[in-house]
Amino acid sequence: MRYPPGTLDEIRARLPVSEVVGKRVRLQKAGREWKGLSPFNAEKTPSFFVNDQKGFYHDFSSGKHGDIFSFLMETEGVPFPEAVERLAAMAGVDLPKISPQAIEQEERSRSLVEVMAMAASFFQAELRGRAGTRARAYLDGRGLSPETRDAFGIGYAPADRFSLRDHLAGKGVTPEAMMEVGLLVQPEGTAVPFDRFRDRVMFPICDVRGRVIAFGGRALEKDVPAKYLNSPETTLFHKGRVLYNHHNARKAAHDKGSVIAVEGYVDVIAMSAVGFANTVAPLGTALTPDQLALLWRMADEPILCFDGDKAGRRAAYRALDVALPIVTPGKSLRIAFMPEGQDPDDLARAGGHGALARVIDAAQPLAEVLWAREVEAGPLDTPERRAALERRLRDLLSAIQDEDLRRHYRADMDARLRAMMPGSAPRGERRPWVERRGGGRFEPRRPTGIPEQLRASPLLARSALFSRAPSPSPRESLIVLGLAAHADLLADMAEALASMDLADADAGRVRQALVDAAAHGELPASGSVRELLEAWGLATPVARLEGAVRPGDRWCLDSAADPEEVKDSVRQAMILHRRALTLHNELGLAQTAFAQDDSEANLAWIRDLQAQISAIDGTEAERERPEAWGEVGSDGE
Ligand code: UTP
Ligand code: MN
Repeated sequence: MRYPPGTLDEIRARLPVSEVVGKRVRLQKAGREWKGLSPFNAEKTPSFFVNDQKGFYHDFSSGKHGDIFSFLMETEGVPFPEAVERLAAMAGVDLPKISPQAIEQEERSRSLVEVMAMAASFFQAELRGRAGTRARAYLDGRGLSPETRDAFGIGYAPADRFSLRDHLAGKGVTPEAMMEVGLLVQPEGTAVPFDRFRDRVMFPICDVRGRVIAFGGRALEKDVPAKYLNSPETTLFHKGRVLYNHHNARKAAHDKGSVIAVEGYVDVIAMSAVGFANTVAPLGTALTPDQLALLWRMADEPILCFDGDKAGRRAAYRALDVALPIVTPGKSLRIAFMPEGQDPDDLARAGGHGALARVIDAAQPLAEVLWAREVEAGPLDTPERRAALERRLRDLLSAIQDEDLRRHYRADMDARLRAMMPGSAPRGERRPWVERRGGGRFEPRRPTGIPEQLRASPLLARSALFSRAPSPSPRESLIVLGLAAHADLLADMAEALASMDLADADAGRVRQALVDAAAHGELPASGSVRELLEAWGLATPVARLEGAVRPGDRWCLDSAADPEEVKDSVRQAMILHRRALTLHNELGLAQTAFAQDDSEANLAWIRDLQAQISAIDGTEAERERPEAWGEVGSDGE
């Protein structure tokens, strides 16, 4: 039995093995794989493994090994064609009738692939030859070395209208075949078809097996109508179902357990050159659901990278809408924003691997960006506007198909809403903040989720909710300034500092400066770096943080203090900070759960969290004199 080319691959691409197997075997996540009890043997301890990235299962109890098709054949005893038919239906893939025509079509597309391979070699040779002088200079100017050009098959299409056509004709390729793969165009009113790509740097686009199926051609000049010209949709190329560099990235993604998607071809190449070979790009359009499915075949949480400017932000927000209906508990994504005005290519050239790693590591979960998008959409200074935000979020979340995940998203967004709108909970009700000793002072649970850059956005700054910025947390202030006072500790703890979740924007800025300086070796060996911070224009945030440090902890800010003792205090504060954050987040969830179901169990959950939180605050308060409370904070409550 034969199927049109790519049909089986497409079914495999759409159906993770775990989904097919999961209908029969209860699977549990085990690292990057799934495991469960063997369907082939009775057993008590799971020895049956499923690997979605690699597309197979392996049963250690029986030694059986296979893909989704063999699984169905093995477990249900159906013949191959029936397995294909059933899985195609499950995947929503149309199975064309296998006809003599289809077989002929398969042979034809095999020969079309050969035509594309010939074109790619022609372009590469032209780039190396005399016609390619300007193109080589252009690529040199962009830092794309001859090695990189070879690795990505980059070529050059000469300016002449018939060079490729004549070359291919000389090899016996018919004009019809050249037309069919999109290498020729024949605009209305012209007598003969001519080369589509002229005077452009050519980036071959390959299928997952590495066969050239399309091209992207970049103009050498700035002011031409289309900077990039891509192949049209053809029998070989469906741009919404292809990822640029998929064939190279697949293995790297599997080795690293992660995959990155950027916006442009050159970005992919630049990322690969500085050590991120696990990078792909869509083909000049917004990411499609099919492309997302391909990313999920490579990693559970692909990282989508966008430019830090408005257009990039908008593109990221569009990606959310594509993703929401198809995310599941095991498959989500994260979003990273480039520094304003730079794309990955710029950043790779300016800052190399380190600069990109920092951006990638700072990628934010889907929920975070969704929240930021909705909060950023407009001011939230009236009850109506806040209610509208709540409604919008609810509508958006209803797009999530997976029931469990939808419930968790609702709880998460509810917690964020409550945290951001202290006024919304009537008096005496469960509140998303924590009462502290010392005369009924409240410390609102801050929306820790809002990304630094969004928090500083002018829209947010204008919103009344945010202009009343609470004073920074004493704990965060102690950590950041304690390390600023002891450069030797800072060098030691920079990594821990970099990975902290800081709620306060000023603490975040000072932290960023410290971490960057440490990374670039700009710090003195010992002593205080306060002066440096001030020189970098951070005097005001530093002063504000200093005001928030508890008097009992002030000694840590003296650079003459015993570094070991300071280190203990800071480390302790970091642990408590992380613990408190987790507890506060969980408290939000517990409160939401209680609002939906006011059971004893949920109430006990809240009480338990509250007790744990006051225990943590007590731990810290022990070290200070009670009268100190009057001095803490400066928000005038
Ligand atoms: P960008 O405009 O961000 O360009 O397009 P870039 O990738 O930074 O390109 P360079 O660095 O100037 O060479 C991102 C992607 O959008 C598609 C291409 O796939 C490009 O890589 N694109 C862009 C087009 O298809 N056509 C265009 O005219 C422009
Ligand atoms: Mn670019």
